Amino acid sequence: MSASDLHLIVLAGGDSTRIKTGGPKALLDISGRPMLDWVLSVAAASATGKSVLVLGPTHREQIESWLEKSAYADWEVVIQPEPKGTGDAVRCALAALPEEGRVLILCGDTPLLQAETLALLGEQENGALLSAEVVDPDGYGRILRDEEGNMCSIIEQVDCDTETAAIGEVNAGVYVVELSALRAAIDGLESDNAQGEFYLTEAVIQILGQDGGAVVTVSGEDEIIGVNSLADLARASMLMRERVLAAHMENGVIIDDPASTFIEADVEIGPATRIFPFCVIRRGCRLGAHCLVGPFAHLRGGSVMHDRAEIGNFVEVKNTEMGEGAKSKHLTYLGDTDVGAGANIGCGTITANYDGKLKHRTIIGAGAFIGSGTVLVAPVKVGDKATTGAGAVVLSNHDVAPGEVVVGLPAAPIRTKHS
Ligand code: UD1
Ligand code: CA
Repeated sequence: MSASDLHLIVLAGGDSTRIKTGGPKALLDISGRPMLDWVLSVAAASATGKSVLVLGPTHREQIESWLEKSAYADWEVVIQPEPKGTGDAVRCALAALPEEGRVLILCGDTPLLQAETLALLGEQENGALLSAEVVDPDGYGRILRDEEGNMCSIIEQVDCDTETAAIGEVNAGVYVVELSALRAAIDGLESDNAQGEFYLTEAVIQILGQDGGAVVTVSGEDEIIGVNSLADLARASMLMRERVLAAHMENGVIIDDPASTFIEADVEIGPATRIFPFCVIRRGCRLGAHCLVGPFAHLRGGSVMHDRAEIGNFVEVKNTEMGEGAKSKHLTYLGDTDVGAGANIGCGTITANYDGKLKHRTIIGAGAFIGSGTVLVAPVKVGDKATTGAGAVVLSNHDVAPGEVVVGLPAAPIRTKHS
């Protein structure tokens, strides 16, 4: 590692008391990913050195068990014994970092930050702080500037008088500073404020003042939103959802009503696919081109739709693959199912994939015709071009041969079609 390296500290050592769920704020879901996942991924894109995550004792186990399975398993976790403020959290992190180099510091509750903004901060040679001009500064530290317009102080919400509270420029909680200067400034911190905490902001003001650091300002709260309450979470989720939808529309996906469309992160959708209103598409689903989805469809994790497949109203699919041009248009549950190309799944079909202990797969062949109200008890296979009659119950391990027509309860063959 060299003196030009950019290291990382992400702060998530707070007690999460303000969200009142009992769990860690860092793992709250935003568009299918934990909030901390968004922060770590954008931070990791900027770093060239060591990455340190600060956690507190209350939630460390839960967050660490997520971290181990994530893409950030190589991050060094440092425990802050008590939540004595952001300055104290950084003090704990410094023990894990080299003496020299620069460090990018972020909070674990700002999930909408963009990599380009962090890159811009990293380019400021003498260090930098990110600020934002917002309409409602409530909850953020206010940026005070002197007559020359230079930042001279950051006043936290609880320490604000009425005049300071009205300032619309706020601190985003993102900083780039020299490690050596940070060590010295953190050592000198005191906790003589309304919360009795060590404020990182005081150290940052001192360093940037000495070094002639920059203030990079973005317009509006959207990118810098800090999630302190569940109302903030709902707003951050809405903003993230809009961002995800905009990217799909940019790629040629037709979304009839963005306001009622929920597409989580890490979903692939091909061009000219149309999403009707009131649909939920969960993380990791992959949809081809020219598909139709909804209205009122629920595509759960791991589901795949090949080109021109259709999933209609009140259809839920889970861990299911719809072959090219396959259709399931109404009132259906397809769980752990492979549907062959061009197959038609009748209204009210259910794949009974769970026997009370284990999940099993259902395989439906290409060109099969599943009659309305069919129950397919997994594990079971329905061959290519086979047919089930309306209301048929196909029992587990009673495969339907290709071209065969089965009806009744339990379903029995009546004939075989020859095409
Ligand atoms: C902080 C800033 C504020 C800024 C805002 C931006 C300070 C003093 N204030 O306020 O100026 O406008 O972020 O969103 O820095 N944490 C720890 N250990 C602690 C306390 C907090 O690790 O002892 C972590 C939290 O888990 C959180 C982050 O630091 O991820 C920020 O803490 P939080 O209490 O949310 O600070 P804010 O009041 O939002
Ligand atoms: Ca916060």
